[in-house]
Amino acid sequence: MDKIKVSLLGATGMVGQKMVRLLADHPYIDLVKLSASDSRTGKEYGRTVNWIEQGPIPERYRNMRMVSSTPEDQKDVDYVLSALPPEAAEGVEVELIKNGINVISNASPFRMSKDIPLLNPELNFEHLKILEERDTKYVKNPNCTSAIMAMPLGEILDMPYKRISIVSMQAISGAGYSGLPYMSIDDNIIPYIHGEEEKIPAEISKMYGSVRDNNIVNRKTRINVTSVRVPVKIGHMGIINVELDEEPDLEKLKEKMKNFAPLKRFSGLYSAPPHPIIVHEEEDRPQNALDTFNGMEVHVGRISYRDGILRMVVLGNNLVRGAAGITVLTMETMKQMNLI
Ligand SMILES: NC(=O)c1ccc[n+]([C@@H]2O[C@H](COP(=O)([O-])OP(=O)(O)OC[C@H]3O[C@@H](n4cnc5c(N)ncnc54)[C@H](OP(=O)(O)O)[C@@H]3O)[C@@H](O)[C@H]2O)c1
Repeated sequence: MDKIKVSLLGATGMVGQKMVRLLADHPYIDLVKLSASDSRTGKEYGRTVNWIEQGPIPERYRNMRMVSSTPEDQKDVDYVLSALPPEAAEGVEVELIKNGINVISNASPFRMSKDIPLLNPELNFEHLKILEERDTKYVKNPNCTSAIMAMPLGEILDMPYKRISIVSMQAISGAGYSGLPYMSIDDNIIPYIHGEEEKIPAEISKMYGSVRDNNIVNRKTRINVTSVRVPVKIGHMGIINVELDEEPDLEKLKEKMKNFAPLKRFSGLYSAPPHPIIVHEEEDRPQNALDTFNGMEVHVGRISYRDGILRMVVLGNNLVRGAAGITVLTMETMKQMNLI
């Protein structure tokens, strides 16, 4: 089988490093180019990156010379994977698309465009069908918190709920490699994350939207979010409260979450966990220290109903389920759908 040749923009950042790790031994996606900001062009990846991923830099990339993010340097790959910050991503990605280069991106610009899929593969792989007739394909991945919190909401959005409230407690790595000074976040909680509280409800509505005339029509939802930054390195946790008039069948809800595996119809999805939602019965789970490692799984615990409120705690790895892992799974799913 011919491998899919990909290039990675933002290869020195938090998401980029995770992507390098995930793709180093991939059976059919071949990461052949790395780039970051202009000052690194021409340098050896292993000498210029501030590597903070676990384990050594994969041998193959240690001496790879970095290239620029321009179409000139990117035109000979099948797909460009973007882990650029939003300010840089908008211009760079538009230029690549204009030059007929396919892009899958983690950055926020255009996430809400109705003609661009916002992919969290288990939830909405069918949205990829809008790309079937397009010569150049542009796909976005959701914000890390949206990706994680959306996973267990499918059943709940079908219930006659009044409102869903999410309090997200987000890890420092979500702000990028140089996102937060140590002195601001050490031993502290910051009760504001710019833009998150608007993005999360909108992106969940789009992921649960439907396809009409080759566009995505957002689902109507009633979700409000409060986001805070907490002093943990990896893993975004959310406390979800759903106002419901009637007590739901909690055992049935848990079973549906445990059995949720919509991608099992495809073979060859190397990055798809067999059980994308793990339901915990222990009253002190999920925990960042025990449940975030490198997985694509989203962990759900403390599911209960009291005083008209269905409650649960949700946790996922922001760099894997929230970013790099979804990008890789999106590519794998596109291949199985004959879109690559
Ligand atoms: N961190 C998360 O949990 C997470 C989750 C979901 C989505 N995202 C999104 O994913 C993207 C990457 O996030 P991150 O956390 O990995 O950020 P990051 O750690 O700040 O990394 C940014 C990367 O982009 C490169 N870069 C910066 N400016 C550039 C420019 N003008 N041209 C080319 N390359 C440039 C940086 O290179 P240098 O090292 O050379 O500066 C670095 O490789 C962002 O859009 C973010 O919103 C992040």
